[in-house]
Amino acid sequence: MTSPQRAPGGFPVVGVIGGGQLARMCAGPAAELSITLSVLSEAPDAAAAQVVPHSPVGDHTDVDDVLDFARHCDVVTFDHEHVPPAVLEALVSSGVALHPTPEALRFAQDKLAMRERLTTIGVACPRWARARTAAEVEDFAEQVGWPVVAKTPRGGYDGKGVRVIGSAAEVADWLDQVGAPGALHDGVLLEEKVDFVRELAVLIARSPSNQAAAWPVVETVQTDGICTEVLAPAPGLDPDLAAVATEAGLRIAEELGVTGVFAVEMFEVRDPGSGAAAYVVNELAMRPHNSGHWSMDGAVTGQFEQHLRAVLDLPLGAPTPRAPWTVMANVLGGDYPDLYPAYRHIMARDPALKVHLYGKAVRPGRKIGHVTVSGTDLDDLRERARHAADYLAGVITE
Ligand SMILES: Nc1ncnc2c1ncn2[C@@H]1O[C@H](COP(=O)(O)OP(=O)(O)O)[C@@H](O)[C@H]1O
Ligand SMILES: [Mg+2]
Repeated sequence: MTSPQRAPGGFPVVGVIGGGQLARMCAGPAAELSITLSVLSEAPDAAAAQVVPHSPVGDHTDVDDVLDFARHCDVVTFDHEHVPPAVLEALVSSGVALHPTPEALRFAQDKLAMRERLTTIGVACPRWARARTAAEVEDFAEQVGWPVVAKTPRGGYDGKGVRVIGSAAEVADWLDQVGAPGALHDGVLLEEKVDFVRELAVLIARSPSNQAAAWPVVETVQTDGICTEVLAPAPGLDPDLAAVATEAGLRIAEELGVTGVFAVEMFEVRDPGSGAAAYVVNELAMRPHNSGHWSMDGAVTGQFEQHLRAVLDLPLGAPTPRAPWTVMANVLGGDYPDLYPAYRHIMARDPALKVHLYGKAVRPGRKIGHVTVSGTDLDDLRERARHAADYLAGVITE
């Protein structure tokens, strides 16, 4: 494998395992910071490989591929959470600086491990259980009531691996895989179906020397399990809840030793007794996250720049918003593969809009980009972001 080209002046090389859009969006900030990026890519035309000159193709589950890649990097980080623990351990044993570390990453890779750990350190979670048999599913449902949310502990994303079930029979196919190698080896995660007011996300960055910075708490809107819109900051959020949710994120990051950008997905709930606003944690992500895309345009330091700073143990940048509101809308693929004419149209219609496309082929429902728009009138911003995303998806033609 060839070496990545370092910038003159002693600047480091950051390796990213995985060539998806998150790796791709590190490229702009890396160029600005004079940091060389190197991406271990799934394919020569992966989203990041299109824009990062040093993007060797390799298999993130193959120890030799990953070790060979990491040799040329000062620090290695991730585009996704799917690198197997054995590969992570091999990297650490050979002296590679990994951020986040395998010990921390475990809790983002495995939702059962995450629930156990959060429960141990006293973080509010939905009521949950591990089920290996239909009888265990029935027992849990008896405690919390049907329907129950069932999740595969590993490998899920965008709602794949999440089912709302009304009977144990609806996860019979998953229970059959318990004990066999794979995502369901240790059982199915069951959770009460939380009657949430809305979904929130806390996004922070933490560096190896324990500097941390938090962006404002945002509201995330999901449609069919996929995040479609983010409002930054979360409108009308109780300031006390914003403070305790942020504190919880910072505490989890420290307890779990997370380094880099870290997202905590939460549900906003009402305390059944007092009616006060509260949170329960849904899940953790240890990498830049969809809920933070707004920050690229809407904050002094965007999450991709911050992630690079954090994994290199550089001083962190200010997470301060640049405007009272920023709205982000994801662009999901529609029926029209040719995005360029639509993109021209939305730019002309709204010069303040920022368009980010990931170089991915259009497939219906696939995340292919996002737009952001910042300003003072939240309803107007939402309308404009929605319009642009829908127009790009071909859902509307005007
Ligand atoms: N316990 C729950 N109660 C109610 N809704 C849930 C629960 N768990 C997940 N969801 C819904 O499903 C979505 C996806 O679940 P999540 O665990 O975040 O999976 P993924 O890894 O696919 O993001 C959440 O954003 C939320 O809308
Ligand atoms: Mg999620």
